[in-house]
Amino acid sequence: MTAKPIVLQDLPPDLERERLPRHVAVIMDGNGRWAKRQGLPRVMGHKRGVDALKDLLRCCNDWGIKALTAYAFSTENWGRPLEEVDFLMALFERVLRKELREMMQENVQIRFVGNLNALPLSLQAEIERSMADTQNNPGIRFTVATNYGGRQEILHACRAIAQQVQQGLIQPEQIDEALFESHLYTAGICDPDLLIRTSGEMRISNFLLWQMAYAEMYITETLWPDFDRAEFHRALTAYQQRDRRFGKV
Ligand code: FPP
Repeated sequence: MTAKPIVLQDLPPDLERERLPRHVAVIMDGNGRWAKRQGLPRVMGHKRGVDALKDLLRCCNDWGIKALTAYAFSTENWGRPLEEVDFLMALFERVLRKELREMMQENVQIRFVGNLNALPLSLQAEIERSMADTQNNPGIRFTVATNYGGRQEILHACRAIAQQVQQGLIQPEQIDEALFESHLYTAGICDPDLLIRTSGEMRISNFLLWQMAYAEMYITETLWPDFDRAEFHRALTAYQQRDRRFGKV
């Protein structure tokens, strides 16, 4: 399959290209409430949520944003009703199978982070295939956090580093931020500059705890399936108005 050349399209003229976030993270909240308001089963909200995510990915790609990370399934989400969990797993698999060709055409590099070994084997196979097929694509880095928990990721890194110390490969004094980050699932991806959370909840919910240290947060009452380009434009406008000091004056 041949990749299309990257053409940046339609960045709204009031946004400054040089001051766009390099990496946007999203907590896609409110699918269930959206469905309830429409008188539909909860899972229909997730289905519509996929459409909203596809639109956002395309928009980031069009506007020149280099990385997008979406929280698709947390380690706590296993506590949802079995039918909903099964629906989500099947949905992820179906979406991957259906969208791979388009992701290739649009140069997307997809990556999954989280404890992937606990996912259904057929989903693991689709995940591996999509990551392998897209790994050299030069476009946006699209990371999907699936069976992901920030604390669990930090513990996973700590264990790996502790083993290296135990084996005498490194000294405790050599453990610095760079070394620690190289053991996170997100190694090699810059920290998110902007976190967007929909449906008005004011929480991080165990998402990218280390990486989010200096992220600007944008929270909107809009439910995830209704999050569109106009909403994203508003989020970017708010971001560009922020004064990012990183702890300095
Ligand atoms: C939160 O809404 C949403 C989720 C737990 C699932 C989000 C997943 C997707 C949109 C699919 C992404 C798919 C791929 C392959 C990347 P909620 O159910 O918590 O809503 P509520 O708070 O209104 O109940």
